[in-house]
Amino acid sequence: MLRELIYNGFLHLTPNHHSHGYWRTPEGQVQYGYNQLDAYVKTVKTLEKGLFDTLFIADVVGVYDLDYGDGKTTIQAGTQFPAADPIAITSALGLATENLGIVVTSNVIQAHPFSFARQISSLDEFTHGRVGWNIVTSYLSNGFRNYGYDEIVPHDERYEWAQEYLDVAYKLWELSWEEGAVLHDPASNRFFDADKIHKINHVGKRYRVEGPHIVEPSPQRSPVLFQAGNSEAGRRFAARNAEVTFLPSQTPETARKDIAILNQDVVDFGRRPEDLKKLVMLSTVIGSTEEEAKRKQQYLFDNIDINALQGFYSGGSGIDLSSIDPDTPLKELSRREQFSQHMRSKFRIAVDADYGQGRDLTWREYLLKHALLPGRFAGTPEQIADKVQAFADAGVDGFNVVPITTLGWWEEWVEHVVPVLQKRGLAQKDYKEGTLREKIFGQGSQLAASHPQRKLSL
Ligand SMILES: Cc1cc2nc3c(=O)[nH]c(=O)nc-3n(C[C@H](O)[C@H](O)[C@H](O)COP(=O)(O)O)c2cc1C
Repeated sequence: MLRELIYNGFLHLTPNHHSHGYWRTPEGQVQYGYNQLDAYVKTVKTLEKGLFDTLFIADVVGVYDLDYGDGKTTIQAGTQFPAADPIAITSALGLATENLGIVVTSNVIQAHPFSFARQISSLDEFTHGRVGWNIVTSYLSNGFRNYGYDEIVPHDERYEWAQEYLDVAYKLWELSWEEGAVLHDPASNRFFDADKIHKINHVGKRYRVEGPHIVEPSPQRSPVLFQAGNSEAGRRFAARNAEVTFLPSQTPETARKDIAILNQDVVDFGRRPEDLKKLVMLSTVIGSTEEEAKRKQQYLFDNIDINALQGFYSGGSGIDLSSIDPDTPLKELSRREQFSQHMRSKFRIAVDADYGQGRDLTWREYLLKHALLPGRFAGTPEQIADKVQAFADAGVDGFNVVPITTLGWWEEWVEHVVPVLQKRGLAQKDYKEGTLREKIFGQGSQLAASHPQRKLSL
């Protein structure tokens, strides 16, 4: 193997993560187990059997309520609703596994950083250093209203907020307790060396936190930091802070370009390109022949609830798109003044890239292509391995594997795709020793010395 590729299993503790409407099929009904701990325990055991590096648990703190102005479409369809809290399940999933990393999404608006840092240290301790954090700032206006704001905080300001949040958490995780603070020394009657445990006295724009951190440092201290930014502010945040990020790239060619841009930012922040692992989305419809895979993909399309998908896309993009007739040509939408410049240019890019393969792509087709299962590909295990290889050749470090159903579907991947990837040297055959950070980076449980947060002091 040229270099170890990373595989995340993408999950959300909710009835429908991406395949909205598929729950109505016999294959999709497995999602009725979305609120059962047993179902997730079974899933992580399957992921571990397939030697996945991490389980990556997405999360939202509100509803997608922009469709038709009342949000009933997405609620009725169980579109990322209801959503249980990833933090609540992590201990149990840690106990059910030995090697799998568990990455929890936690939104900076949902918890005070003092509480959050404490939860993470506890979980990292209880899992022997297998926890990661997906840092999100929320794109749902309802989420902000749930936490006392009148409306969504402007985009770039959300990243400034996230930076201060991370600073507070970092001071608690890394600076509050010096090495050697734990004594367990009956002779001197000291459990801890109080001189080595410090208050952090953080005073910032949004937070005032005295400290000290009230949980002992965990094996990794800071969890492995994940973040997915698409915008310039988001990309710069990832380049500065994240250890694993997600590229928006749909093809190996665009991945190559996206990696070059991102690496430049990473270097600007005094880091090395290899300090930030770059993953792409990969969602596969697997068949024993290409024809079978395409047939299964058509079955998926036929069973998608286009209204729910549209409501989901509305919530994500911050605009009510429900007035659009699904058969409207995208070309027409790309000219409509009702959409922001950003949306219109997104539509224009899709039209120009000729996603309609010579025909006029409709809004329905656009949704199926872009909102349903990002990074989708239908093929045989060998064709999937070819795709993985092409992305790896372009410099991608791994994949966020997006399932069709978050429960159940993984068996198919583990049984049919993993052996082919392993045979080609594209997936690991054994877990490495150590914490999640050691497994991913091959060295050191702690945040790299080159990480900009290392410059912080008390
Ligand atoms: C793989 C992946 C997973 C994500 N998971 C979540 C999530 O669980 N919760 C959330 O609110 N946002 C999630 N996002 C959205 C990002 O945090 C971010 O808002 C989005 O990529 C837009 O980037 P921007 O904020 O730079 O505009 C995810 C994005 C990607 C690509």
